Amino acid sequence: MASLGSAPAPRLNRAVIFLGPPGAGKGTQAKEIARLYGVPHLSTGDMLRDHVSRGTALGQLAKPIMSRGELVPDEIVLAMVEERISRPDCAKGFVFDGFPRTLPQAEKFAEILRGLRLGRPMVLHFVVDARQLMRRLTGRRTCSVGGEIYNVYERPPRVAGRCDNDGGELIERPDDREEVIAERLVAYERQTKPLVDYYRSQGLLEDVDGSADVEAVTRAVVGVLTRAQSNA
Ligand code: AP5
Repeated sequence: MASLGSAPAPRLNRAVIFLGPPGAGKGTQAKEIARLYGVPHLSTGDMLRDHVSRGTALGQLAKPIMSRGELVPDEIVLAMVEERISRPDCAKGFVFDGFPRTLPQAEKFAEILRGLRLGRPMVLHFVVDARQLMRRLTGRRTCSVGGEIYNVYERPPRVAGRCDNDGGELIERPDDREEVIAERLVAYERQTKPLVDYYRSQGLLEDVDGSADVEAVTRAVVGVLTRAQSNA
C-alpha cells in the first residue's frame, strides 16, 4: 500500500478521471488514490452493478446491455452521475473510474462540473497492452462484501476465494468471460478511446504506464497529481 508520508492527506479539489481500457487497473488505482487523498471513489460500473443486484428498473435495463459488453445509454449514466456528484462529499474533489466513456458524456460532464464550480478535470490515461488486459480480466476476482479487487495470477488473496480484509467471498464478474471482454474492448476502441485525443487537445490528459506493478503505478499517479497541483 502506497503512502504519502506522515503529512495530512493533500487536497485534490478537482475531478480526477481515470481513463483506459477494461482491465487497465482503473478501479484498483482509483480505490487507492481516493483513500490517499481522502475523497470519494466513484465508478459508474459499480453504480450500475449495484442497480443490477438490487433489481431496480435501471438495473433491469442495464443488465442485458452490460452482459453483452456494450455501453449503457448516455442519458441513464449522466442522470446517475449528476445526482451522485452533487452530494456534499464530492465538494473537495473525487476520483472517477469508468466515466466519461463517450464524447457526449464528456461534454455534459464539463457542463456539470462548471455548474458545481469544480473547474476542469485532470485525466489520467492508463496504457496497457491487449494481451495483458485479457490475462488481468480473466484472472480478476472481486470481494462480494467490500469490493476489494484481486487477481488469481498477479494479486492472489492469502486464502483462495476469500478477501484478505473481511473474509468476504471472491466472485468473478459475469462480463469477464473472454467473448464479452472482446466486445468490451471493441466498445472501448470505438466509443471511449476518442476521449484520449479530446482531453489531450485541451491539455488535461497525462499518460501513465499501467503495465507496471500496482504500487509503481500508484506512485506514478501520485507524481502526476502532485505536479498538476503545484502548477495549478
Ligand atoms: P466498468 O465496471 O467500468 O468496467 P471497465 O471499464 O471495463 O473496467 P474494469 O473494471 O473491467 O477494469 P479496470 O480498469 O477497473 O481494472 P481493475 O482495476 O479492476 O464497466 C462495466 C460495464 O458497465 C461496461 O461494459 C458498460 O456496460 C457499463 N458502464 C460502466 N460505465 C459506463 C459509462 N460511463 N457509460 C456507459 N456504460 C457504462 O483491474 C483488473 C485486474 O487487473 C484485477 O484483477 C487487478 O487485480 C489486476 N491489476 C490491476 N492493476 C494491476 C497491475 N498494475 N499489475 C497487475 N495486475 C493488476
